[in-house]
Order: sequence, then structure tokens, then C-alpha cells
Amino acid sequence: MKVDRFGESFIWGASISAAQTESATDSGGKGPSIWDEFCNRPSRFFKKHPIKNSEHLKNSADFYNHYKKDIDHLKFIGFKHFRFSIAWARVMPDGENINLEGFEFYQSIVAYCLKNDITPWITLYHWDLPLALEKKGGWTNPEIVNWFDHYSKTCIQYLPNVKNWILLNEPSVFVGAGYFFGIHAPGRKGVTPFIKALHHANLCINKTYYSLKNINPDLNVGSSFSFTHIESTDSKPQNKKAAKLADTLINRLFFEPIIGKGYPIENIKLFSKSQKNYLKKDEYLLKTPLDFIGVQNYTRELFKYNFLNPLLPIKHIPASKRTKELTMMNWEIHPPSIYHTLIKLSQYQLNTPLYITENGIALNDVIGNNGIQDYQRIIFYQSHLQEVLNAKDEGVDIKGYFTWSLIDNFEWAEGYEPRFGLIHVDFVTKKRTLKESAQWFNQFLGRKLDSTLK
Ligand code: BGC
Repeated sequence: MKVDRFGESFIWGASISAAQTESATDSGGKGPSIWDEFCNRPSRFFKKHPIKNSEHLKNSADFYNHYKKDIDHLKFIGFKHFRFSIAWARVMPDGENINLEGFEFYQSIVAYCLKNDITPWITLYHWDLPLALEKKGGWTNPEIVNWFDHYSKTCIQYLPNVKNWILLNEPSVFVGAGYFFGIHAPGRKGVTPFIKALHHANLCINKTYYSLKNINPDLNVGSSFSFTHIESTDSKPQNKKAAKLADTLINRLFFEPIIGKGYPIENIKLFSKSQKNYLKKDEYLLKTPLDFIGVQNYTRELFKYNFLNPLLPIKHIPASKRTKELTMMNWEIHPPSIYHTLIKLSQYQLNTPLYITENGIALNDVIGNNGIQDYQRIIFYQSHLQEVLNAKDEGVDIKGYFTWSLIDNFEWAEGYEPRFGLIHVDFVTKKRTLKESAQWFNQFLGRKLDSTLK
């Protein structure tokens, strides 16, 4: 597979997010976010710390002080696009009032990107809500729509050289894990917080899309969604029905309202009548003509019918029970998933360009005598890119691909063991080391690697 097959206008980039890489959690006037608070929770003998090995995001890659080095690496690998996020609590410590020093940090990143001919793509919300706003209800408070709008409008005002904006990163994950299962910050559980957070996230996408475009119609404003490919364990009708329900809960619920199809909730017995009404009452407001859709796919999941749970009659079959092709996240390595995801999206006939804003693999990369030989990651990228190309060849309008991730980072509740980076980070010394996969990308993209950067 040659890079030219993707076409000259296809863009190549790498992604990171603020909470996962910046460290410096209270430098430069930054306020606390829900993830700072989540990591600060004490371990008690009857209650485990929410993060594996009781890790803390403050010990991540210190991108705050190493951003130039990281952008140098990105450039020398051969990427021309860089996706990163703004820590809302860095630029607005209480969620509402400006901290100039915070904006200056992002202005320097943007300036450094542009100086190096790298195009910035900024995610406005990658899960690190200011704690002050969570104390007022966070995503369950309808006011979030105004808070997010004010924050986003301020960001585009302070970063006028940035054209590409991603509104929210994967609502299904921050709403599902943070407000239903309670395994991500802010650790809330239950159907009611889930329903509210889901609806408010969708309202945010809609309102702020129009706000930003009203201020500057030339901006390229999209939003990123997680799309996990769902299959049933076999072709028995009740298992197929269960897989359909899982697909609705995991994918469609978060995407279809935004494309004007309303909430697909008729068959969801888990939601009460009043919860359904909460969603339905203004679902007609949600249709948003996003300039692009950010597609994030990592794996597939299998489901079957579960007669023991009449409210939610589905059973998830964990990948570890069905395959040995696992990543460090215990996710199945299944390249056709990205192809199926893209084909399914094209069937909506939206006429909206797609960008893969994340795709990657977590491994347990260790530095050996010959560097970091992450061949499994190279194979992962080769096979997934081939599937992207197959979809593109069939006419799907895919305009770019961002790897996840540029550097090893804090993997939320999983801590530091799963490493997603093309660049290894020693979390103690903060030393960066390019992995074999970075060298592979460099060759694939046809750039010349500056060996002094290794
Ligand atoms: C998130 C990233 C995360 C990655 C791997 C995506 O859901 O946007 O922040 O690190 O998946 O889990």
C-alpha cells in the first residue's frame, strides 16, 4: 500500500488530548478539572482508587513544557496536521472567567505549529470539565449549553489563526463512562444523569456549531464520535436483535439526533417514559449541518440476547473470552471494523466529509537494546489503513486520518500501562523515544527522518 493511493488532498495527522498529556495540573493559573478531582480521590480498603495502580494524570508526559519537542517529532515523522485539545480549566479556571496565561499557552502551541507548517485541529472538549462546573451539576445541568458556548466562543476569539475545530470528543464515552457507569470522572451513576448528560451534550453540539459559524463562517467546525462496530454472536434472531439494541445504545443514540434522525429510543425499555420525553421534547432542535464528522474506531464488540435482564436484554461477550488478538486495553484487533464503520456512515448519505480523528493500538512497549520494536502497531496501522482505503475506493468521502496517539499518555481509568503513542515517553524523566512505528509512518508518508531527533 502506497500513501499516494489516498490522494494528494488526503490529510495525515496525529492526535493527543490535554488531560492525558499536559501534566502541569495546577501551573499557569489552571483550575481543577473533574479528572484532577477523580485522580485525587483517596483509596480506601473497601473502595478501590478509580485509576489502575492509583495513578494520577499529573504524572503524564508534561506536554506543557515539552510541546515544542513533540511538535518537532510530529513534523519529522511527516505529519502535517496536529489534533490537540484545550483544557477548559486552564483557560477558565472556574469554567467561566478567563485566565490569560492559559490562553497564552495554547497561543504558543498554535504559533509553533504554524511556524512549522503544521495545521492545528483543536478539540474544545476532551473530557476535562472544570470542577467548578461539575459542582453545579456538570453535564446534567442544562446550563452547560451556555457555559460551553461561552467557553468555545472565547476560544475562537483568542485563537484566531485556528480554522479547524472539533466540538466534543466522543460524547458516548464521557457520558456513558462518566455519568452512567461511574468509571470515569465525575464518577456518577444511573440512567437519569446519563439521559440528561446525553441530551445536553447534543444540545451543545448544535448551539455552539451555529455560534461559531455565525462569528466566522470560514471556520471548519465538526465533532468527533466514537463508533464501535457491533456484531451478534451468531445469526439467531434474538441475538441479532440484541446486537441491534447494543448498536443503538453505543452508537446511534449519540449520532442520529445530530443528523436529524431524532433519538432511536422506541425499543429501549431501560429508559422510563419521562426520560424518553426529556429527550424527545426538543430533539427537533438537534439537527446540525456539521462541516465534518470525526470518526473514532478502535475495535468491534459482540453481543447476544440476555433473558435475565428484561429491561436491558443484552449480554456483552468480552473480547478476552473469544480471541487472543488483544491489545493492552483487552480490545480485539479487528481491522474490518473500521471499514464497516465507514460504510455504515456512508449509508446515511449525509454528504458530509469524514475524518478519522482517532485510531490506534495500546501495547506494552518496552525499550530494548534496539529501541522499541512495536511491530504489532505497524501491522495494526497497515491493516487498518488498508481497510480505510477499501472504503475510500468504494466511494466513502474520507478526507484524512489522525493516529491515536502521537505520544504515550494517561489512559484515563487504565492509568499508564497501555501505551498508545508512536513516541515512547518515560513518565519519570519525560524522555521521548521514537518507536519503530514512528519510523514506519515516516517511510510510509515518504518523508526523510532527521536522525538527530530519535
Ligand atoms: C479517547 C482517547 C483515548 C482513546 C483510547 C478514545 O476513546 O478519545 O482519549 O485515549 O480512545 O482509549
